Parts: sequence; C-alpha cells; structure tokens
Amino acid sequence: MTHVERQPRERTYLMSPPEHFVVEYAINPWMDVSTPVDTELALKQWEGLRETLVRLGHQVHVLPPEIGLPDMVYAANGAFSVDGVVYGARFKYPQRIAEAAAHRRFYDNHGWKFVAPAETNEGEGDFAYLPDALGGGVILAGHGFRTETSAHSEAQEALGRPVISLRLVDPRFYHLDVALASLDDRTVVYYPGAFSAASQRVLAQLFPDAVVADEEDALSFGLNLVSDGRNVVLNSEATALAAKLRQAGYLPVPVELTELKKGGGSVKCCIAELRP
Ligand code: ARG
Repeated sequence: MTHVERQPRERTYLMSPPEHFVVEYAINPWMDVSTPVDTELALKQWEGLRETLVRLGHQVHVLPPEIGLPDMVYAANGAFSVDGVVYGARFKYPQRIAEAAAHRRFYDNHGWKFVAPAETNEGEGDFAYLPDALGGGVILAGHGFRTETSAHSEAQEALGRPVISLRLVDPRFYHLDVALASLDDRTVVYYPGAFSAASQRVLAQLFPDAVVADEEDALSFGLNLVSDGRNVVLNSEATALAAKLRQAGYLPVPVELTELKKGGGSVKCCIAELRP
C-alpha cells in the first residue's frame, strides 16, 4: 500500500487539570465509586498529555479547575466551536451542569461569539468537525445517551454547517468521542458496533476511506484520540489501533492516562479543540 504523506496542522486546545478529580458519582458504566483514584497520578498523567501536545507544536490554554466539579477535567464536554463561533454545552446530569458556565467565561473573556444552547448537549463529547469533507465543513453529532437530537439542529443553526446525526446504541460508548474521531480534515476512524445499524450505513456511505476499529480498540479507549492530521495522540493501551493508524499513514503518539479512564474518559475527553 502506498500513502500520501500525512500533513499536520497546528491546533489550539483547551484543557483543565484534574486537581479535584475523584469518582464520587457514577453517570457512565466506567465509573465505580468504590474504585480509589490517585489524584496525584491523574495530574501527572494529564501534565504528560499537555506536554505532548505542546511538544507537537500546538497551543494549549488552561481552564482553572473548580472545587466540586470532579469531571471538569473532561474539557471536551464544555462547548463546541467552529470558525470562531462557540455553541455552548448544556449537561445532561446535574452533577456537571455548572461546568458549562466555567467554559462560557473562558470564551467570553477571549472574544468569541458565544451561542447559548436551549437543548441538552455535551459539547465535543458528542460533536466532531471535519473542515473539508463532502464538499465543505461537516459536523458529525451523536445522540442516544447524552446529547438530544434537538441539539443537533440547534448546532446546525448556530454554526451554519450541516449536521449528520448518528445514533449511539452501546452504553459503554455513551459519547460520540469514545466511538469515532476525526484523523484529519476529511477522514474518520470509528467502531461500527457503537452505532445503530442505520447509522453504520450512513457512516459507510459517507466515509468509504475511514479507518475501521473493532470492539477491542474501542474498549481500550483508543478512539478517544486527538489528531493534528499526522500525529495521533491516543491511549497507550490501544496498541492494536495504533498499528492500524500507522498502517494508514498516521503517526501514533501513545500517552498513559490510566487514572482518567476511571471516570470514563481518555485523551479526547480531556481536550477541547478551539477553532477560531
Ligand atoms: N465522567 C464523565 C461523564 O460521564 C466523563 C466524560 C468523558 N468525556 C467525553 N468527552 N467523553 O460525563
């Protein structure tokens, strides 16, 4: 197989350190309140992820963590931005509702146009953006566990890009970003089994060149990755997926995030991409 050289593009990200990270409630099947969390180790691993992104040439903004919001480390859920416009989050579970305001403050302070949501949606947890697929910028949106389909049309109106709704059916993969990721401006990697049969057909039709992952890849949180078009930062446990990505011409960059897996997240969950 011959491949074109994959080109990286410089990115801007937003992350929030797990200073107050614990598992004291369970809102997804990965969370177990009886599992002890090593917050020090979580912080160390998070810092490793931040340094990896910086080393790859990206800019990382840091959102100050807040006491009483242990899941704030999963910064992907706080909003979704496209071309300088931010569509805010509205969390499904009461334990996380206050995170949305913290994210909003960041965008307001940095001069973004902010669209407040009326519908339940968990930001980049359930929205992915491909700047150059199917003739232009396209939004992929998950529903079934957290984000409501009504938020998909709200996002389309807020951001002026077509939204393709995809139904998630496996509770272990409760957000889109644990089942699918963008690898570059037009290519995705996904685990078909996380989606309804109809949504699998939609993905197969739209993305014939996708990298297709299996259940093991998804269970190792491999799909919860962040790519700059060439370098793919992913959970170090996802060795089989790393091999598939290398085969497709990408450069896997493994990072250890064992503590954050206890809250049901990995690389992508900890990172919101800012698209000015
Ligand atoms: N404990 C968090 C929750 O259940 C994890 C969020 C993971 N974030 C993500 N983007 N998938 O809401």
